[in-house]
Formats: sequence, C-alpha cells, structure tokens
Amino acid sequence: MDNPTVLLVDDEAPIRKLLSEIATREGFAIHTCPEGDAALETLAEHHFDLMMVDLRMPGLDGLEVLRRARPFIGSTHVVLMTGYGSIDSAVDAIKLGAAEYLQKPLNLSRVRELMREVRASVERREAVVASEGALAERLEFCGMIGRSAQMQELFTTIRRLAPFVRTTLISGETGVGKELVARALHTLGPRREKRFATVNCSAVVETLFESELFGHVRGAFTGATDHKIGLFESADGGTIFLDEVGELPLAVQSKLLRVLETGEVQRVGSVDSRKCDVRVVAATNRNLEVEVAEGRFRSDLYFRLNIVELVVPPLRTRREDIPYLAAAFLRHFAREFKKPIAGITPSAERLLIEAPWPGNIRELRNTIERACLLGEGRLLTERELQPGASRFGAAPDGVVRPPVPPPASTPSPVVPLPDREAVVAALGQAGGNRAAAARALGISRRAFYRLLEKYALQ
Ligand SMILES: Nc1ncnc2c1ncn2[C@@H]1O[C@H](COP(=O)(O)OP(=O)(O)OP(=O)(O)O)[C@@H](O)[C@H]1O
Ligand SMILES: [Mg+2]
Repeated sequence: MDNPTVLLVDDEAPIRKLLSEIATREGFAIHTCPEGDAALETLAEHHFDLMMVDLRMPGLDGLEVLRRARPFIGSTHVVLMTGYGSIDSAVDAIKLGAAEYLQKPLNLSRVRELMREVRASVERREAVVASEGALAERLEFCGMIGRSAQMQELFTTIRRLAPFVRTTLISGETGVGKELVARALHTLGPRREKRFATVNCSAVVETLFESELFGHVRGAFTGATDHKIGLFESADGGTIFLDEVGELPLAVQSKLLRVLETGEVQRVGSVDSRKCDVRVVAATNRNLEVEVAEGRFRSDLYFRLNIVELVVPPLRTRREDIPYLAAAFLRHFAREFKKPIAGITPSAERLLIEAPWPGNIRELRNTIERACLLGEGRLLTERELQPGASRFGAAPDGVVRPPVPPPASTPSPVVPLPDREAVVAALGQAGGNRAAAARALGISRRAFYRLLEKYALQ
C-alpha cells in the first residue's frame, strides 16, 4: 500500500517541523499548512488519514477549519492541538468530528502512538476492501455479483433453467441486470456457441419491426430492394433477447406469438414459412400485467412468455450487495484508468449503502466510474461521490447528499435512438404535435413519449 497521509496545520513553524519529523519516521506522506485557509484548500484536493490542527491561529481558528471542512473529513482522524486548553473548545471540537484533543506542549510519545494507531487502521481498512473485491470476484456468476440471498437464489434458478428453458420473461427495474441474466441463460445453455442477438424493442422503427425480426422478400414494400434475413433466422439455434418487450407494437406481438407457437417464421411478403429454432428471452421494466389490463399487450403472448418468469430485485432491497459491487467496480475502473485507488473510505461506503439507487446497478457503476475518474487519492471519499459539493461551502450544513448519477447509458439498439436534438427538432417542425413528431422520426408514439421522458422534455 501507499503511505498513509497526514495534514499538519499550525502557525508555528517549529511545531510543523517537529510533527513532520515524527510523521516521516512513522511512514506518513506529509502536507503542512501554516493557516486555516490553505488547509481548507488542501483538504478540497486530497484525502487525509490524519489531520492535526492547531486551535489558535491567526485567521481561521482550528474549530472554524473543522466546521467548514466537516463534510469532507468523515473518514479522517482529526486531532485538535492547543496550548490554551479549555473544556469548552474540547467539547466543540468533538462535536465537529475531532477524535482527540492534545495539550501543548505535546506529549511526543502520545503523538507517535497516535500515528501508529491511524496507520494500523488504514492498513486494516485496505485489507478489508481488497478481500471484499477478491471475494466479489470469486462470487461472480456469469459477470454478476450478488451475495444477497435473493441473488444467490436467482443464480440457482438460472443454473437450473439454462439447460432446457425455451422462453423466459425477465422483469425488473431499469439497471438491475436483466441483460446479464439473459446472457447467463444463453451462456449456461446448450446454445452457447450460437448467436445471442439483442433487439431493443423501444428503439426499432415501427414500420421496420416485422422485417427486422422476420426478414422480407424483394418488393415486399417500398424500399425492399432485396431479400433480407430477419433476426430470428440469423439467430437460428441461438438466443434472441427481446429487450423492453412491452414496447412491441400489437401487430408484431401477434406475429411473435405465432412464431413461438409454431417454431416457424414467415418473411414479410412471402407465403412460405421456414423452421426456426430460437430461444426467446424477453425483458421488461414495466408491469406487463398492467399493460395487458390496459390493452397494450396481448394476454396470450404474456402467458406464453411468463411460463418462466425471473424477477431481478432492485438494488435497494439487497443493500448487502453494495460493498461487493462497489469494490468490484472500483477494481475495474482503477485498472482501466490506471489509478492507484485501493478502496473507499468508510463514510463514503456508508453513503453508497444508504443511497436510494433508482437507476440500480447501472447507476452505482456509473457513480463509481465517475468517482474513479475524479479521485486523486488512494481512497475514494464522499467528495468524489457528490458532484454538487466538490468545494467547501457547497454543503455548509454538513449534510451529505446522495450521489447524483450521470445519465444512464442505453444498450446499443438495432436502430439508434434519435438523440435529444433530433427530438427537439422534430417537435419544433411538427408545431408541438407529438404524434406527428413521432411519425416524422419513424418511431412509435409510445417510444416517442419515452424519449421525451428520457430527455426530460415534457
Ligand atoms: N449483479 C451484477 N454484478 C455486476 N454488474 C452488474 C450486475 N447487474 C448489473 N450489472 C451491470 O449494471 C449495468 C446494467 O445492467 P443491465 O444492462 O443488465 O440492466 P437492465 O436490467 O437490462 O437495465 P434496463 O432495464 O435499463 O435495460 C451493466 O453495466 C451491468 O454490467
Ligand atoms: Mg437492459
């Protein structure tokens, strides 16, 4: 491991020199500051395992430094030093997060002992994170990490079903890992050598759906200048993953049902059918029962699909997985960005464990990625996890906000989604008429509404 870090803040140069000498001998990397403002700036840039700060200094005094630095020193061992010891300031210091209060003249053997204790606790902490990361990797199941009982049960079910299941419905909120589950079913099944083809049903241009899935013959419609093989035929023997199956237009739903029932596909414009043997795994983050009740999804297709339904639980119901996921993502991104990040501070980890994660694992992953990109120290701290509070004063109340996620990335669809600008332009050209704008973009009205939601354009 790298050396533990200490920030020494004192207006008296001889004290800084004395403490620096001891800290060097105890194996610390050292930063010194002669006054409070400089200390706050240094704290904004670096994580410290130990901070020793003088109470009486010109400018900001030690208590004021603690008060302003509070949101950022959650995992720093803070020691206040003073030659004018008073019970009151000691109590204040403790309230502000100081762990200890040392009288001047300093008892040097106590200083040494203190540094050894901090060093030992940093080493313990790093060992824990390293073993969590290693354990997470050992517990990995087809790219999925999950220590919770729910995930372990899901893994068992996947292992049992994978050898023979024909049709599966995977449901769960956005970012919970539905696609990984689908891939696991494929990888552990007899078709692992064959294709795994993904169709993002919310992104396919409505008029092209049938031909994307089932192919077409020349002249089937304007623009069909040649034969085309559909995904079903090209994935013959393999798996088709129908992502966001709830977005499938009703007309295509009935064709899909026929394919599932007969095992035959018919290219658009052709009367012949061809045998086609594919495993269909469908995923949805909507409640398909509601879609059925409201007439947007065919009940017969629903029953056909949900013969086997796998439910992937949201992250907030399995928070015990968070430290393992975080440790694994951290390892991954630290390697990718070539950064010597070894772990997470305990208070940052608490923040992760308690956050609501509406975007589930994708959001957690993005958050760690971003933090690894921003992080400079050996440990990720709250600072990198909360964008709004990257400078002092942004959270004067000491309130720690949950991480704000970057926008979720979408899996690559068969046809790329129109971007935000395209949607805005289409709306403008259609004079605000959404149905017309959707038509102009060649997507379904429902897909269009989802885009409005995605780009926050309502
Ligand atoms: N158990 C897990 N362990 C490790 N990484 C995971 C796990 N579950 C999901 N991920 C990661 O989280 C991200 C989102 O997963 P995935 O794309 O499978 O979610 P999804 O349920 O299909 O989401 P959506 O409904 O938005 O399509 C991916 O980067 C995936 O690798
Ligand atoms: Mg997905």
